[in-house]
Amino acid sequence: MERYAVIGYPVTHSLSPVIHAGFAAQTGKEIHYEQLNVPTSDFEAAVQDFRQAGGCGLNVTVPHKEAALGLAGEVMPQARTAGAANWLAFREDVIVAGNTDGSGLVCDLTEAQGLDLSGMRILLLGAGGAARGILGPLLGCAPKHLTVANRTPERAHALAQAHGSPGNLEACGLEDLGEVSFDLILNATAAELSASPMNLPPSVLEAGSTVCYDLMYGADTAFMVWARQAGCARVCDGLGMLVEQAAESFELWHGIRPDTTPVRERLRSAVRPRIP
Ligand code: ATR
Repeated sequence: MERYAVIGYPVTHSLSPVIHAGFAAQTGKEIHYEQLNVPTSDFEAAVQDFRQAGGCGLNVTVPHKEAALGLAGEVMPQARTAGAANWLAFREDVIVAGNTDGSGLVCDLTEAQGLDLSGMRILLLGAGGAARGILGPLLGCAPKHLTVANRTPERAHALAQAHGSPGNLEACGLEDLGEVSFDLILNATAAELSASPMNLPPSVLEAGSTVCYDLMYGADTAFMVWARQAGCARVCDGLGMLVEQAAESFELWHGIRPDTTPVRERLRSAVRPRIP
């Protein structure tokens, strides 16, 4: 049986095994999918061991996405732009790395959420690894303009430069967000995990119209609570993105596109009750 796994640290909370089992059942694929809970120092050895034991591919999560790129002999364009990989495939003599985070997000936004990103005014909060993984595919949707705002403005400017600073892309500090409002606000910061809250000016959000999306899932974040209180049209968490990025890696490995809707709905009912 073909072996796959998700590798991360910690990874015991990962929904990837359930998602891939759901896709496999739906498409009639017989796979064995496990979790590899591996600290940074053991990452490379764990990947090589898994490969030598006949493993076919890995989903890669925090904190190994940058290191995964370094192991690959062949890097897909999205992973190169993102500077990180979220899946590895083991071919006969080469490790291939790719990144489906951005395309998974775009798929969730456009197909599950029904948004047309072209012509939209988008605000991307954060300029770390999570933001870097999604910026390229978002720009590929031709938004009217996209502002990357980060607590440390220099990182936002560097991210914009790494994407060639096209005319519709701006970068600034969180403090520089002025009176301009946005159609879509994406939170790709780790503010939820830090003690200091992220203060956003109320003007960035138009009540009844702006859609807010947090890349995190599983419980309402402070950003989602703020968005709801400010009256945004819709608040989404990152569960849909998680399922879509998994579907893309499943398709790359097995050549079959699974139907994400039943898997997302099953997870939604399992994850929702944990939200306070
Ligand atoms: P990740 O891979 O999750 O993106 P990261 O690369 O460490 O992790 O990036 C974390 C992001 O969250 C950064 O954009 C960080 O801002 P800085 O570049 O200024 O550090 C942002 N972040 C973390 N805590 C934050 C907070 N309390 N308020 C606002 N932004 C925060």
